[in-house]
Amino acid sequence: MKKTKTEKTVKKTRETPAAEPAFESRLQRHHDELRWLYMELYDNDSMFAELCGRLKSFSDERNQALRRSDAKREAAPDWYKQNDMLGMMFYIDNFAGNMKGVESRLNYLEKCNVNYIHLMPFLDTVEGRSDGGYAVADFRKVQEALGTMEDLESLTAACHKKGINVCMDFVMNHTSQDHEWAKKARQGDGEYMSRYFFFADDEIPRQYEATVPQVFPTTAPGNFTWLPDAQHFVMTSFYPYQWDLNYKNPRVFNEMMYNFLFLANQGIDIIRIDAVPYIWKELGTQCRNLSQVHTIVRMMRMIGEIVCPGVLLLGEVVMEPEKVVPYFGTVEKPECHMLYNVTTMATTWHTVATRDVKLLKKQLDIVNSLPKDYLFLNYLRCHDDIGWGLDYGTLMLEGMGERSHKQYLNDYFQGYAGDSNSRGELYNADPVTGDARFCGTTASMCGVEKADEEKDKQAMEKAIGLDIMLHAYMFMLSGIPVLYGGDEIGQLNDYSYKENPNKAADSRYIHRGAMDWKKAEKISDEDSVEGKIFGRLRRLEQVRKAEKAFVAAADTWTIETWDSSLLCIGRYFEGEKIIGIFNFSEFDKTAWIKEEGEYRDLMTGEDRKAVDVSIPAYGFYYLKRK
Ligand code: GLC
Repeated sequence: MKKTKTEKTVKKTRETPAAEPAFESRLQRHHDELRWLYMELYDNDSMFAELCGRLKSFSDERNQALRRSDAKREAAPDWYKQNDMLGMMFYIDNFAGNMKGVESRLNYLEKCNVNYIHLMPFLDTVEGRSDGGYAVADFRKVQEALGTMEDLESLTAACHKKGINVCMDFVMNHTSQDHEWAKKARQGDGEYMSRYFFFADDEIPRQYEATVPQVFPTTAPGNFTWLPDAQHFVMTSFYPYQWDLNYKNPRVFNEMMYNFLFLANQGIDIIRIDAVPYIWKELGTQCRNLSQVHTIVRMMRMIGEIVCPGVLLLGEVVMEPEKVVPYFGTVEKPECHMLYNVTTMATTWHTVATRDVKLLKKQLDIVNSLPKDYLFLNYLRCHDDIGWGLDYGTLMLEGMGERSHKQYLNDYFQGYAGDSNSRGELYNADPVTGDARFCGTTASMCGVEKADEEKDKQAMEKAIGLDIMLHAYMFMLSGIPVLYGGDEIGQLNDYSYKENPNKAADSRYIHRGAMDWKKAEKISDEDSVEGKIFGRLRRLEQVRKAEKAFVAAADTWTIETWDSSLLCIGRYFEGEKIIGIFNFSEFDKTAWIKEEGEYRDLMTGEDRKAVDVSIPAYGFYYLKRK
């Protein structure tokens, strides 16, 4: 009989029982707080004892290379806050067919200066009801088409040899309806029904619906699904085939922690906690960001620090800043290591559409005033839609109403406004609230697709200029920049999803197209669109890596330019100062700044004063004080 992965690893460790004083001292450090929080939620001694026992086994199963890396990272806890960190996210099949394919493309990733890859969901899921892999049917099995757990372990080891960190999604809010727990629950097994939210009639679901907003109002309205065979409602905040887990049940918490540690032991460096604000439900609330969610994330952080201290937690909190920041926890009781800078991302596109940097400057001032321990992931777009979560209180003062402004942005990025060159599609347009989100690749939203269609060379230069300027600006923000795979060669929207019945209703697939390796062959051809984008991005990456003012611990602030379309950002670290100026308009402009001293343009090497700087349409400067 074929051995399962776990059996094999356990056997290996039994042969070489490792004296592990580190585990004991890590457990000691966190035990009291962990126990306190566990009891607060579950008041269950035996389940807590079971948890501690299993932590020890997962620690024993961790291989030597990972343990060495844990120890190294514990000794240099800021290892991930350096200026050379650059991420890239991609779907394995789209990028390189399967896990082995990714392993064979590591040289390309190195060429991209990428040292952190986010492998989009790759665990077992059922085609046709997978939500891009976010409906997990088995947390310990890789999708057959992509490979095996052994392939994953081999990939992470190969990445580590090249200094590349690997991130994966941990979808802990729900399982797929095809997960074995869900199958048993559907058959009426009470033990498993209690791991989800089951209701025999609609009385309680109706009470929930009164206060809980909808995630997918058009593609999956409501928060419950009726199961005719089980004669029960089940809670499904996302798609009907994604069943919300009930974390009030300590069995759910324990088992999900074991899954987390199992995955960490495959060599994963960064665990992205999917949809984290949703994991605790209480009747009469919005079921978002409840205090118990923070208790769980805090426990998860401690569990990670006890078993696999080299592993980072990245929280997915796609909400307004006041809701996001608490997921960092406090300095004494940290929760996530990193969070997405989502409001900045949305505000960036608002700025592209309006050519007015005021709101973005205000948003950056807020982010820049936060403690430097808070590390953000910066991105221009990801695999999800762009939701227009902007500071409407401020926009209102400028006469921009929420509904009309969202309408404007959606019209703009669909290419309807006269001065727009963008291409893309709406996502979950809600006829009731008038709300809609947006989907498109960076290049398509910058005008590359339209210029390509119209064979307009001048428009293409402008579009590439905007694309590069946005990346240059994103690299200047405090935190870790993450590219979406394909954006480095300016990949366009992919409309083929409409022909696939499993995808047609979900327009997010428009910006999740397969990597075009034919196009990627042109990265050295400076006359091609791909070569231009890749080459200029590469230069930015090299500059960022070479300049210590880009470390996360640097001071970062905005500088008034006295021009509504020009954003200026300063960075300072250990005597080195860099200022970045970014032109969000299609006109040449002057930044009326007066920074003392002599400066050098980091892109061209030329000397330049940082005083009344003329800056071309969609241009930018990185100026370093000499
Ligand atoms: C996260 C993912 C998104 C998915 C959802 C449900 O928000 O980014 O793609 O649909 O979780 O798991």
